[in-house]
Amino acid sequence: MDDSIIHGFSKYTRQQRIDALIRKYGFEHNLAPWLRSFETSDQTISQIIDDLSENPISSFHLPFSLAPNFVVNDRNLFFPLVTEESSVVAALSSAAGFWAGRGGFHAEILGTEKKGQVHFKWKGIRAKIQLMFPEIKRKILSESDFLSSKMTERGGGISFIELKDMTHILPDYFQLDAGFETCDAMGANFINSCLEQFGKSLQQYFRSNEMLSDNERDCEIIMAILSNYTPNSRVRAWVQCPVVHLLDGKTSEECRLFAEKLEQAIHISQSDVSRAVTHNKGIFNGIDALSLATGNDFRAIEACGHAYAARSGQYKGLTDIQIQDGIFKFSIELALAVGVVGGVTSLHPLAKLAIQILDQPSAQELMMYLAVAGLASNFVALKALVSGGIQEGHMKLHLSNIMNRLQIPEEKRFIIQQYFQDKTVSWSAVEEYWKSFG
Ligand code: MEV
Repeated sequence: MDDSIIHGFSKYTRQQRIDALIRKYGFEHNLAPWLRSFETSDQTISQIIDDLSENPISSFHLPFSLAPNFVVNDRNLFFPLVTEESSVVAALSSAAGFWAGRGGFHAEILGTEKKGQVHFKWKGIRAKIQLMFPEIKRKILSESDFLSSKMTERGGGISFIELKDMTHILPDYFQLDAGFETCDAMGANFINSCLEQFGKSLQQYFRSNEMLSDNERDCEIIMAILSNYTPNSRVRAWVQCPVVHLLDGKTSEECRLFAEKLEQAIHISQSDVSRAVTHNKGIFNGIDALSLATGNDFRAIEACGHAYAARSGQYKGLTDIQIQDGIFKFSIELALAVGVVGGVTSLHPLAKLAIQILDQPSAQELMMYLAVAGLASNFVALKALVSGGIQEGHMKLHLSNIMNRLQIPEEKRFIIQQYFQDKTVSWSAVEEYWKSFG
């Protein structure tokens, strides 16, 4: 047997895991205290963070930041953001301030229904299962009542169950396709529990139906799982202003040319997949940062967003521009499912604070804020791209980070910024120039 294969790693203590790491990679023995230095001394918080995952050996930090001045449907909020990309918070803050002076962001919910499926195989005549389905459905609904009644009381529950013939994909393959309303929860546990129960009821229905042949009594459940594609859980957000107010301190003609360039950028993102992916990546810079801060599942949100971007059969940018009667309107439409109760949102102390910062939003309000974060992020990216590129802004931030790390005093920074205005910023160049100060 290969003795380099570790068995039962999850049962190791933290120290044993670190020792195994040191043995395998020859790391220094002071690795353990170093890893510990990243952890909080508060035992309760430390335990909460550890319990979020398996086999922890330390905590991995990212900045928890704020972008002020987000006016959304006339409400002025700070957006809490968690990201490792240095320009994202600056971009969102800048968009928030810019649009706050132009009526703010507007948003509306277009639907909140989530989906799940039971994938199963049944060897029988197709028309027969269609005939039996109303009875099957009644059984499924009544036998899952113990799971859904609380959600129904809160205004949610199971919104539909349909039978889908999928025999064109696999022989004898059918689906139960179900819709759910999950109120303020993302609802993954609720949906998955219901779906697994649907599968049991379905099998039981066939097994106990004496009118069926032996063959027809057999129903194989392939899997029962929610779908992260939620095209009926959708949100729209937009900003608008007169074209001539699009750029501060610029002429009407410059504003008009700028609007035209933005429109072209959108047109390209809707026609060319290589650009569309980068365009949407920039949108998710904002959405992911707000999702992560609020403890939401950003992988689910991204997966759904990208599928939605390809709903026409061609992957496209998620934002749009309309210029009509001198008014510039910039909008986003997004499918996504989020929660503000349960899961990490209710566990992680900073996610709880993020929810407080957003003024205890409902799931619908959070959907709107996420769409706004995506729109804001895209606006700043496009604004920079069509007016000379993003590197200037990135380099400013890069320089400021390097000066922080070199602990350059505040009064010297302006001279250094001036010097690097027309030069390439790198760690060694800044260090060398700083040394020349003597
Ligand atoms: C970088 O993280 C995001 C951008 O590339 C987005 C875009 O190109 O639209 C700037």
